[in-house]
Amino acid sequence: MPAYLAVPWLPDLLLPQPDGWQIRAETCEKKAVMSDQDGLPHDREVKAITKVIELSGIEKSFRIGDSVVQVLKGVDLSIEQGEFVALMGPSGSGKSTLMNLVGCLDWPSSGRYLLHGQDVSGRSEDELARIRRHDLGFIFQTFNLISRISVRKNVEMPMVLAEVPRDQREKRAAELLQQVGLEHRIDYSPLRLSGGERQRVAIARALANDPGIIIADEPTGNLDLKSSDEVMSIMNRLNREGRTIIMVTHNPEITATCSRIIRLRDGRVLGEGP
Ligand SMILES: Nc1ncnc2c1ncn2[C@@H]1O[C@H](COP(=O)(O)OP(=O)(O)OP(=O)(O)O)[C@@H](O)[C@H]1O
Ligand SMILES: [Mg+2]
Repeated sequence: MPAYLAVPWLPDLLLPQPDGWQIRAETCEKKAVMSDQDGLPHDREVKAITKVIELSGIEKSFRIGDSVVQVLKGVDLSIEQGEFVALMGPSGSGKSTLMNLVGCLDWPSSGRYLLHGQDVSGRSEDELARIRRHDLGFIFQTFNLISRISVRKNVEMPMVLAEVPRDQREKRAAELLQQVGLEHRIDYSPLRLSGGERQRVAIARALANDPGIIIADEPTGNLDLKSSDEVMSIMNRLNREGRTIIMVTHNPEITATCSRIIRLRDGRVLGEGP
């Protein structure tokens, strides 16, 4: 299988390109207006703490042959603007399945999902693609970089999908790589980077279209201690800047700076803690 097929948002290439993305939910205080001129946000304003994610009664089942496996069994969950939430739980408890739903990479079998106060449960694939492109940034345990293109091009990729003009996306990619301390690796192939460097490129890529929400599924799972600290330091900074972060982790030590820990077990929220 070609490497690019492993990148979940790459199918967006096959979808109609956006003509601008606007969220103007009357019920929420957040206003995120994307320019339809250049595809880059230039009027993002957060007025008050508000719920950005509300899940109620979310169920998810998969059909395998003749049998149906129910993975999520009625998840109720609210996440507020600016929170840094850690999602923990045993292997197989449904964390990645839940993150895929929150990240609009998949549909729930039943239940309601409000993103910025708007119901996304019944949206079409095109609409979900627009939401993913502009409001959500993804970071994965296995980085999911495209090895046959440069670091810079990887970071530019979400902006290509959002039709950001070349000069703007090149400038922004360089700025983002500088922010994660990788300006000196801009023309490298991802294959020549360390794991920690690859994950920092993935963070820069996740920030390309300036999303308000970052979804990170075990972002330090494949990293040594030093690289893990570097990645967490960047994640904490992104949160201080106002981004909402939902992060799956098995490591209790890195949850110290999280505002909340949500524990999942066997497809249900078991409990929450500070
Ligand atoms: N597409 C799918 N088809 C069938 N079963 C699936 C699918 N995706 C996930 N599952 C099943 O759902 C269960 C939960 O998987 P999930 O990947 O969400 O677990 P997880 O909590 O992220 O585990 P880990 O900590 O190991 O990453 C597993 O038993 C898995 O086999
Ligand atoms: Mg998982």
